[in-house]
Amino acid sequence: MPLSAKLAVRADMTYGTISPHLFGHFAEHLGRCIYDGLWVGEDSPIPNEGGLRTDTLEALRRLGAPNVRWPGGCFADDYHWEDGIGPRAERPRRLNLWWGGEESNEFGTDEFLAFCGRIGAEPYLCANVGSGTPAEARDWMEYCNWAGDTTWARRRAANGHPEPYHVKWWSVGNENWGCGGHFEPEEYAAAYRRFATYLRRLGGGCRLVACGHSTPDWNRRFLGALHNWHLLDHLSIHRYYSRGHQTEFSAADHLGLLAEATFVGEDIKAAADALDLHVGPPGGTKSIGIIMDEWGVWHPQAQQGLEQINTLRDALAAAYVLDTLSRWCARVTMANLAQTINVLQCLIHTDGPRFWVTPTYHLFDLYRGHMGQEAVRLLADGPQVPVRRSDGREIQVPLVCASASVTPNRTEMHLTVSNRSPDKAAECTVTLTGCPPASGVEGRILAGDDPALHNTAEEPARVVLEGADLRAEGDTWTWALPPLSVVGATVKLG
Ligand code: AHR
Repeated sequence: MPLSAKLAVRADMTYGTISPHLFGHFAEHLGRCIYDGLWVGEDSPIPNEGGLRTDTLEALRRLGAPNVRWPGGCFADDYHWEDGIGPRAERPRRLNLWWGGEESNEFGTDEFLAFCGRIGAEPYLCANVGSGTPAEARDWMEYCNWAGDTTWARRRAANGHPEPYHVKWWSVGNENWGCGGHFEPEEYAAAYRRFATYLRRLGGGCRLVACGHSTPDWNRRFLGALHNWHLLDHLSIHRYYSRGHQTEFSAADHLGLLAEATFVGEDIKAAADALDLHVGPPGGTKSIGIIMDEWGVWHPQAQQGLEQINTLRDALAAAYVLDTLSRWCARVTMANLAQTINVLQCLIHTDGPRFWVTPTYHLFDLYRGHMGQEAVRLLADGPQVPVRRSDGREIQVPLVCASASVTPNRTEMHLTVSNRSPDKAAECTVTLTGCPPASGVEGRILAGDDPALHNTAEEPARVVLEGADLRAEGDTWTWALPPLSVVGATVKLG
């Protein structure tokens, strides 16, 4: 017996615009994310564009990667950006305090901004608060963005980029409650105020991001101590989750991972509540966005360089996160999956000249159609299973989850629907209200017969996207989704 789910799309009820930045990325100087994954150097036999590996660039371009956060993570709060500019042979070698080994600084600000330029992504820089100074952070902003004739602008020109880069997104530290300096929230508020005073003065149009936490107490205490709302544009939070072994997991752990992913929505809600309490709800005099600038699965097997195997199960858990972000699009301004290449829930794996993408890469491809569209209400009434989460709470985990968005002129709708059941197909009946009827559909499907399925260097195409055999006419139709599958479809309206 297949499962049955009703998906009622209310196109007349919108949550807001889905910023493309909700599908953002994160690349840290950690393990083989930057070196090997992204940067191979100009003299490498691996095909590259100015030292940036071509296969990685092409894959991220194909995905329409909207932004990349850099240089960390924990690495950021011990990174001195001036080490990474100028002639490469003269750059100092430093210890990578958090992730081990030595940092050659071969890949620095100009290389990162060239990378963003080549894939069409906006850069999001994380300034060093933990071991750095406000002066160092404001100098970095001047180096990147000043159009005039100061020493920093001249240094940038001498390094090959006379035009300012116009970097808009700046965060003031990373996890400053932990690796970013072990601050108390009130101490961080004082540090944030200092850093942001100079960054704001220099870069009026830049977006400044403060470090928040998934524990609401940090956010409340930080916001309670800050007051100077004009210095703050966004509050960032992080969420990692895991359940069981990366590949050898039980059916219970399959569902368990799906349950852990539900923390994301609760973290956003808690951050939104803290902001409402201290700053006032959106639409008031000041509105502060929420950025989830690290999220994803972190398996216990991620040890050396935080490398792990990324399976279909991980992508199915991420589908629910992307649906959640779309529902919260009025409050969440950016999200960054951790991390882009070779680290944690990456999109891409490399190994010297070898290159392959993960099921999560394909998932992001299926969700591309939501970028910049209006999120509309989708009421999913389908099978749920009770699962005990790591916080001890038993929650109902939906096996079928979905999200929908429409173009502003309502001529197209993008629908993403997942059936996360390990063994049952799902008959998903979609009904439309508040928009013209459907008159055709094109879609693709990510599916497999085992949640542990993953791609490898030897078998890079075990999990791929395929064309989906779908029909959508009028205002009701039914799609049959196989077990362990996600469909991404664009429905023509009218
Ligand atoms: O993504 C790996 C690490 O996880 C980051 O450096 C840090 O911010 C987080 O704890």
